[in-house]
This record gives sequence, structure tokens and C-alpha cells, in this order.
Amino acid sequence: MSVGLALLVLAFTGPTLAFVPISNGTSNHVSITRTALLQKVTETCRAVAEAAGYEFKPTGPSPEELVQACLGPKATGQVSSAKFLAALQEIYNQNQMVDRDFTNSAPHHFNSEAFLQGRGLILDGMAAIKANIRNDNFQAAREMLGRVLHTLQDFYSHSNWVELGYQEPYLNLIRPDLPLENLAEYNTPTCSDCARGTCPNPILPNILREKKLTSGYMGIFSAAKPKGKCSHGGSGDLTSKTVPRGGINKDERRSDNVAFHNAAVSTATDASLQLLEDIRLAAGDDAFLRMMGIARSSVVCFVIDTTGSMSDDIEEARASVNNIIDSKKGTQDEPSEYILVPFNDPEFGPMTRTTDPDTMKKEISKLSAAGGGDIPEMCLSGLQLALTGAPSYSQIYVFTDATAKDISLKDTIVALIRSTKSTVSYFMTASSRRRRRSTTAATFEDYRDLALASGGQAIQVSKRQLPEATDIILDTSTSALVTVLQRARNPGKQETFPFMLDESLKNVTIYITGTSLTFTLTNPAGVEQSDREGSGKLGTVHTVGNLWRIRLNTANQTGSWQININTNQPYTLKITGQSIITFIYDFVLHFGGPHPGYAVLTGRPQAGQPASLMLTVMGRKGPSSVTVENVSLVRVSGAETVTNGTVADMGNGEILVTVAVVPEGEFVIALKGLDKVSNSEFQRQSTTQMSISKVNIQAVVDNSLEPGKVFNLNFTVMTEGLGGQYSISARNDKSFAMSFPKSLALETGQYTNATLTITPPANTPSGTDITLTMDAKSANGADSNYVVLKMSVVSKITDFVQPTCTVISVLADDCPKDVSKCRPFRWELSANLTDGNGTGIETISLRQGNGTLSYISLNDTTIQARYNASCCSQIVEFVAVDKVGNVGKCYHSIVRSGGPPALSLSLPLWLCLLVSAFAGLK
Ligand SMILES: *[C@@H]1O[C@H](CO)[C@@H](O)[C@H](O)[C@H]1NC(C)=O
Ligand SMILES: *[C@@H]1O[C@H](CO)[C@@H](O)[C@H](O)[C@H]1NC(C)=O
Ligand SMILES: *[C@@H]1O[C@H](CO)[C@@H](O)[C@H](O)[C@H]1NC(C)=O
Ligand SMILES: *[C@@H]1O[C@H](CO)[C@@H](O)[C@H](O)[C@H]1NC(C)=O
Ligand SMILES: *[C@@H]1O[C@H](CO)[C@@H](O)[C@H](O)[C@H]1NC(C)=O
Ligand SMILES: *[C@@H]1O[C@H](CO)[C@@H](O)[C@H](O)[C@H]1NC(C)=O
Ligand SMILES: *[C@@H]1O[C@H](CO)[C@@H](O)[C@H](O)[C@H]1NC(C)=O
Repeated sequence: MSVGLALLVLAFTGPTLAFVPISNGTSNHVSITRTALLQKVTETCRAVAEAAGYEFKPTGPSPEELVQACLGPKATGQVSSAKFLAALQEIYNQNQMVDRDFTNSAPHHFNSEAFLQGRGLILDGMAAIKANIRNDNFQAAREMLGRVLHTLQDFYSHSNWVELGYQEPYLNLIRPDLPLENLAEYNTPTCSDCARGTCPNPILPNILREKKLTSGYMGIFSAAKPKGKCSHGGSGDLTSKTVPRGGINKDERRSDNVAFHNAAVSTATDASLQLLEDIRLAAGDDAFLRMMGIARSSVVCFVIDTTGSMSDDIEEARASVNNIIDSKKGTQDEPSEYILVPFNDPEFGPMTRTTDPDTMKKEISKLSAAGGGDIPEMCLSGLQLALTGAPSYSQIYVFTDATAKDISLKDTIVALIRSTKSTVSYFMTASSRRRRRSTTAATFEDYRDLALASGGQAIQVSKRQLPEATDIILDTSTSALVTVLQRARNPGKQETFPFMLDESLKNVTIYITGTSLTFTLTNPAGVEQSDREGSGKLGTVHTVGNLWRIRLNTANQTGSWQININTNQPYTLKITGQSIITFIYDFVLHFGGPHPGYAVLTGRPQAGQPASLMLTVMGRKGPSSVTVENVSLVRVSGAETVTNGTVADMGNGEILVTVAVVPEGEFVIALKGLDKVSNSEFQRQSTTQMSISKVNIQAVVDNSLEPGKVFNLNFTVMTEGLGGQYSISARNDKSFAMSFPKSLALETGQYTNATLTITPPANTPSGTDITLTMDAKSANGADSNYVVLKMSVVSKITDFVQPTCTVISVLADDCPKDVSKCRPFRWELSANLTDGNGTGIETISLRQGNGTLSYISLNDTTIQARYNASCCSQIVEFVAVDKVGNVGKCYHSIVRSGGPPALSLSLPLWLCLLVSAFAGLK
């Protein structure tokens, strides 16, 4: 049913076709978005490099090489681009979802002359993005960015902007202070009849002459439209058969509309760039790049039990954090962000998030163990905060010595692990003193389950041994951690695991957790080492508690290895290394209609049908430097089951994998391929476990929440299994009040709709994000599925005013006419920056010029800025951003352009070009 869309989304007729190549003249939302994002990120990286004084020189055009170059000289070794590609993917996904989820909404597509509402979506969205970035809620910001870009891009395809001859974007769409003008009235006819359906330019001559703005009407269910109006056109649009027939959309490139299609694509791209520039100016370069997932290294997150008996453990966690900070400071492995969540009983949190290592040291030094006694604590509540607050793909370490009291959260935690793909490792220091109470059913086994579900490890040591176990945190807090192999067996038996180590892998480490086991490791040359050889030919074996850690020597590493493990006890095996070669993935579902595509699944894949995955594979020189040979789903636990997928290359490094029969139970994704740079075979595996479900629960968030206002969220539940009562649970991480049916009666194969309401308190700060997890479970608990939604609370914006800039004085008389003699001379500028009736200026930053910028507040609304620079630096530009992210620019140049030199100084040069956002500047 998807019709309301635009410049053609994933032109697909079946799962084996690829994206329509951009180079072949056909563009789509994803390609436009990609072009704009890569260009804006490149510009930002270049500016950051210039400011920091290093050269920005990507070795090639791939995103992988862009990330490497952007991070600069510190990034000497392996830097993963996985987070950048995941961020891009998140934006593309949400962009495409507008076609599936808002098919019939005119404003989302600028259809049916819904200009004001369409612009309203863009402006509200931009305000939400800025508010989210200010609060480091980057995922919510990215998702909104994807949706807003879709609507903005649709304007150029669905309106007559390009037919009117405009080649520049319509700035007023992203500027709340500028009105939309010259809109065609409701009863003004706009199109001539086109019996063929496609005509070169059916817009009426007087509309063109008077430059009236109109857009095509779209009717999915009805052919009715106001008299004389243009239609969207195409088979999905019933109004296109009503006179005036035809349509004006430029979604696709046809022989009769090549010029308009191309103009729409190019203005949509420029408009996307303008919007991104506004976001970048409001956010600042660093935050903009963090939103885009460009950061040196991993996010390290600690969840620490602070009950009475934990004082030794807290001491160790503290030592471990300090060790990471000190040993990685200034290296490329320095964590990009630290997160700390304490938990106790009944308290947990608050969460501390910081990019500053010293702040983290300070926060962790404040922790002290108190109270609690032998009551099990709120471990999962603390973990929930960490999983919802930390970015996806984070490494989370939990320190505790007791079982969880809040075990009822386990399903929610598993859903969050699956949706964030973060890895949770437990350091459990059991003391016999703290036995769990019989009232909770929780055991340490639950922690093992959660660790395994996330690809992490559950390490059980005595308090005395803890310092030796935390090396694992150093191993995993690195920029390019990959998993080569991970398996769990319960019970254990003798088994041999082959694995392939490729040339790109560094710091290969094997971890085994288990007791009473022996193993033998064999390298490609056939050389062996057993568990009894602490320091052997192949590596160094270190044992602490239930953990074996084997760090391989670097000699003769590349090739096929094997490890033979012998025990009858349960154990886990994990082999990791550092490499740029890695992959990210999403389970997806094909959706049809005139503009079909693939939607990312937010829950478990459906049982009884093939599963599809969209994989992005990263190589050392971009996607073209690797070949994917085999993708399979593998059961991690129990008898090995491998199901091969069929692989289709979708272009741009994306691979569509279809698996006809999905294995029962929990599985991961295994990837094998060839690194063309070194011509060596590689293998990788995903860490997060997944399984299929007969239950399906879906919900779509279409809007931000407002403080103090009830928000209705419709959701729908279906089962392919037995009908009956299904219990519904919903939790949000901010404890906002919610109401929803606790149970729904389902009939097999029938969608049942229901509504959840959630109300953020009136004092919720704008930019707060909420993670809502909903779960539907069959009566016997055997089958369930979940949906995880990120939503944000944004206050209605009332400040549309951009800060203004008035230059008060420029003292540049000292600057010599001959610029080559500029060196010893300086010039100065002072300006008033005012945010009249607005929220007040919050940040001022220098964008051009290498002088010094200082400022003082004159009063509540005015700031006086002073700029002092060498006469060699002739242009200054700085931006003032107010509290809601409106951007004002100050620009001044002392370049003397040819004419009499005195002229340029005697002119009322006090005109500081107030080029708010983009006006005037290209
Ligand atoms: C575009 O694709 C068509 C069909 O695949 C092909 O024949 C044509 O050569 C391509 N044109 C360009 C410019 O690549
Ligand atoms: C990885 O190995 C290199 C040398 O090969 C070493 O300098 C570095 O410290 C190691 N990194 C970690 C996290 O152990
Ligand atoms: C490494 O390879 C060399 C040459 O193939 C061989 O002589 C040596 O024994 C190997 N060392 C190990 C530890 O496998
Ligand atoms: C899966 O693919 C691999 C390599 O492509 C092949 O060796 C193996 O036999 C296949 N397995 C099955 C069950 O088809
Ligand atoms: C939610 O469902 C109700 C009742 O089914 C419907 O009236 C309402 O329009 C729906 N809201 C949205 C946003 O779809
Ligand atoms: C539930 O909502 C879906 C769309 O989300 C709709 O197709 C279906 O008809 C609705 N079912 C009922 C019983 O209202
Ligand atoms: C600059 O701001 C101050 C304080 O509001 C005001 O007194 C002064 O007149 C302003 N100067 C100009 C040139 O606007």
C-alpha cells in the first residue's frame, strides 16, 4: 500500500534484485541521504582536522576510509567503522519507514498541498533532533533525522518547485521564522489534463508565471480531489484518473521527465545538506560526529553493586576503571565515552555519562558500599538503565556478589540486549554470606544466560581474585573488537572447534569459562599447546576463577586453527581479536506496494517462514575489498546446527541474506569470506543471540511526546501459534506512567489492536528520551515477542527567533594594503549578539578565522563578542546558538577587493552579515 512516497525507494521486484544503481541515473531516498550525509561528515571531519592541526586525507572514498582519516593521527591501528555504518543504516531505515508507516499521510510526503503541515513535521523534527543531541540521545536524533529528511526530500519530487525553475532548495521549509509564500489557493486549478498519464509538464502556464506553489494530490482509497488540481500520478494514485489526469511526481526517472527528475534529486540533495548543516551548527562539530557514530573507540559501561558486602569489589572496579583510563589515555583505544550505573536495594542509578575520563574517575571514586545486607539487589534495573542509556554495541560490565531481586525484568533485559546488540559481562564474586532469599527464584544462572545471550561472559571469581579477572575489560575496550567464534555447551563433552584466523586480526585472545576441563590448541602448522603449558609456543594461558584466557603469540597466526575441549561440565568458548573487517546486520521484512522495500524488524523474526537479514560488511578499503562467501545461522548452544543462507549483493556493501529454514533455539550469524587486501580467508560471528517466534507485536511511533501530555501509542499483536490469552507487559526506563491492557485474547493469524498510553510528567526536560519495551507472551510462557521503541519528549517550540549579530566596531586600520606584509599586524572586531525575545544564546563558536574570540554577557539577552586576529587572517565567521538550537551567524571580511583600499573601511562595514543558518552562503 505504500504510495505516499518519493524518489523511489529500493526498487525491488524480488529478493534477488539489487538496489537500482545510482550511477545509472536512478536515485532514491537512500542514495540521496547517503550522498548528503557522507558529504556533510566529510566537511565536518575536514574542519575538525584543520582545527586540530592534522591533515585530513582519506585513502579512498569508502566510509571505512573516511572514519580512519577523520579520527586523525591517533588512529594508527585498527579502527572499526561499524558504528558509523550502523548510524548511517539507522538513518536510512527510518527514512524508508516513512513510506511504510505513513503511506497515507499527505504531510509526510508533501502530497495534496499539505505544505504547512509538512513543514510543521520538518520543524518539529529538527527541534527534536537538536534537543536530543543536546542530551546525548543520539539514537533518537538519528531516527528523527531519517524521517525528517524523507519529508524534506519528498517536497522536491512531489511539489512543482523544480517546474517553477528553482534550482536552489526552498530555505523557508527549514526556517521557522520565514513564511511559506505564494501557495496556490484551494480553488485555484493547477494542472492541465494529461490523458496519457505522463506528460512533460502539465502545470498550468499561469501557475508557472505567477510562481504559485502546488503539489500533487494523492488518493490511495479515493479518486476525489479539488477541481483542477494536479495529481501525484502513478498506478497507486486513484486521483490520477480524475481530470486533470496524469501526475507531477518526479519519483522515478522516465524518458519524458529526465530533466525534472534530475533537478528534483539535486535540489533534494542540496536541501538535505542545508538541513544537516543547520543541525551541525546547532550541535557543534564534535557532537555532530558523535551522533554519526564517528568515535575512536568503544563505550565502556560499568554497572556496580554498592551494597555493604561489595566494598572490595567496588575498590577493584575503581582500580580497573583507573587502569583503563590511564593505560589507554591518548591512544586510539581510549574509550570514547564512560557510563556508570550504581545499584543497591531498592535504589538504582542515576546513570553518569561522560566523555571526560577525569569525571569518570571522580564519579567512581564517590561510590561507596553501604546498606543492603544480604538482600539481593536491583541488578537488572541497573542493567536496564545501562542498556537504554548506552549506545548500541556497547560493552557493559556488571560487578555484583548477589543474585537479582528484580528477576521479573529478565525478558525486558533480553529484549534490550537483542535490540541494542550490546555485550554484557558479569563479574560475580559470590560470598557464602549472601545467599539469595527463597522468595526470589533468581540464581547466578540467570546472569550466565544474560551474558551468553549478549555474547558476553559470566566470570565467577573470589573477591581476592577479582583484580586478575578484570584484564578482560582492557581486552574488550578497543576500537575494533571482533568475534571469530563463540560457542556454549551444557553439558560439555569432548569436541573440536575449527576456526580461521585471517591476516588482519591482531591481539587474538581465546576465553573459556568452565571448570574441570582440558584443552588442546593446534595452529595451522600443526603445532600444539595444551592447557597445562602456561607459556607455550602458541600463546600464554592465564587462569582465574572459572576463566581461562589465552593470548596467542603473533607468529604463524594466519590460517586454520582448532581447539579441542574435553570436559563433562558446562563451558563457553569465545575467540576474539581486533580487526577492521567486520559486519553489522539487521533482521528485515520485505514490504510491498508501489515503493517496496525492507523494514528492519524490531523484534524476533517470525517462525514458519524464511528469515531475511541485511548485512553490511566492512573491509580494509571499503566493501569492495572483501568477498562474502558464506553466511549462516548457527546455534550457539547444544549440538551444532548450521543453516546456510542465500546471499544477494545489494550494492554499497549491503548484502541480503535469506535463510529458508531457521534453526530452532538461539542462534547467531556466522560470516565467512575473503579479504582481498591480504588474500586471506576470514570468519566472523555476531555476538547477540536471536531466535524466532510465532508471536508478532508491532508499534510505530510517529511523533515526539510532550511534557505533561498523554501520548497514545497503538500497537498490534498477532500469533501464528495457538490462540488464547496473551499477557502484555510494557516498561519504560524513566518510570513514566503508562496504561495498557495487561492481556489480549488472540485468534491465530488475526491482528488484534490495542492502545498504550504514556504520560511524561509536566516537568520532563525537553530532549529526554525514553526506551519503551513491550512484550507479548503466550499463557504458558512458551512463546513471546517484543518491540523496543525509542521515543523522545520535546517541549513545543515557541522560540523561532535566531540570534542576531550587530557589528559595533572594526579596527583594521593597521592592516597593510599589501597582504604579504600582514604578519606583525592585528585587527579587531566587536559585535553585539542578541537573542531578542528568544530563549537566550547558549553557545558561541568560531567557524572561520584563526584569531581569538572572547565574549562577555552585557545583559540577559545580549552578549558582546570580541575578535582579535592577525591581519593575515582576513575573514571571521562565528555562530551563536540559542537554547533550542536556532542558529545565527556573524560574518566579516577585511579583504579589500580591488577598489580603493580606503573604501572598504569607510563603508558602513558594521554590517555584519547576519547570515542565519544558510542564507546567502552556499
Ligand atoms: C544503465 O543500465 C542499463 C540496463 O542495466 C544498461 O544497459 C546501461 O548501459 C546503463 N547505463 C549506464 C550509464 O550505466
Ligand atoms: C595488542 O597488541 C599490540 C601488539 O601486537 C599491543 O601493543 C597492544 O597493547 C595490544 N592491545 C591490547 C588491548 O592488549
Ligand atoms: C612457524 O613457521 C615456521 C616456518 O613454517 C616453523 O618452522 C615454525 O616451527 C612455526 N612455529 C610455530 C610456533 O608454529
Ligand atoms: C554451507 O555452505 C558451506 C560453504 O559454502 C558448505 O561447505 C556446507 O556444506 C553448506 N552446508 C549445508 C548444510 O548446506
Ligand atoms: C489509534 O487507534 C485508534 C482506535 O483504533 C484510532 O482512532 C487512532 O486514529 C489511532 N491512532 C493512530 C495514531 O493511528
Ligand atoms: C488493526 O490495525 C491494522 C493496521 O495496523 C488494520 O489493518 C486492522 O484492520 C486492524 N484490526 C482491527 C480488528 O481493527
Ligand atoms: C550593544 O548592546 C548594549 C547592551 O544591550 C547596548 O547598550 C548597545 O547599544 C548595543 N550596541 C549596538 C551597536 O547595538
